[in-house]
Amino acid sequence: MAIEVTDLVIRHIRDVDDETLKGFTCGRDQLDEFLLEDARDYDAHGITSTVVVFVPGRVEPAGYFSFSADSVRLTESEEFELGLPFDAPISYYPAVKLTKLATASVLQSQGLGEAIVELIFGLVADVPFAVRVLTVDAVNQPKVLAFYERVGFVESLAGRREKKDQRAPATVLMVRDLYL
Ligand SMILES: CC(C)(COP(=O)(O)OP(=O)(O)OC[C@H]1O[C@@H](n2cnc3c(N)ncnc32)[C@H](O)[C@@H]1OP(=O)(O)O)[C@@H](O)C(=O)NCCC(=O)NCCS
Repeated sequence: MAIEVTDLVIRHIRDVDDETLKGFTCGRDQLDEFLLEDARDYDAHGITSTVVVFVPGRVEPAGYFSFSADSVRLTESEEFELGLPFDAPISYYPAVKLTKLATASVLQSQGLGEAIVELIFGLVADVPFAVRVLTVDAVNQPKVLAFYERVGFVESLAGRREKKDQRAPATVLMVRDLYL
């Protein structure tokens, strides 16, 4: 049975002890190490905020995500295609960046990643300031890119233009317009 957003319990990283964090592994060392070694400092110094996700019946974290404020520069064609019913001389979209997202290896491919993204949409929709898009620097691997596409992200044209000279960039800037 797929994991649903209503199954998720979230705790801010400052409310989770190190022993519990040590029980997390997603199959990508860099992301496991970030959670254990860096996430608290990033959080304490206003760089990114980290939320740890649990599912009922499991003491170890089921996943985690980190996010921060962001802005997305619009290409000329994107500005033209904004579709706003009024003139708005803007060249940036207000955004939130999903800087990290990982689910426990043993729980992958059961809908947990999608449920966490849905949870994040809900959190971002509730803040008392405007957020037009969610962004992510997705690891440039077919499985990861396919995951973000399935949950509604598309590659940013501005991001692609910036990296056009790199043959295989490590990450791909993807965006999800929350008003489409
Ligand atoms: C990328 C990642 C977050 C996805 O999380 P996840 O929990 O596996 O996500 P989901 O289960 O919602 O979706 C994954 C796949 O499982 C499939 N799936 C979902 N529910 C399923 C179910 N009940 N039965 C079978 N397959 C299912 C989905 O179709 C999806 O396939 P696709 O992405 O190829 O389209 C996770 O694989 C991960 O943490 N990877 C390591 C860290 C990483 O690379 N993070 C990304 C950094 S940008």
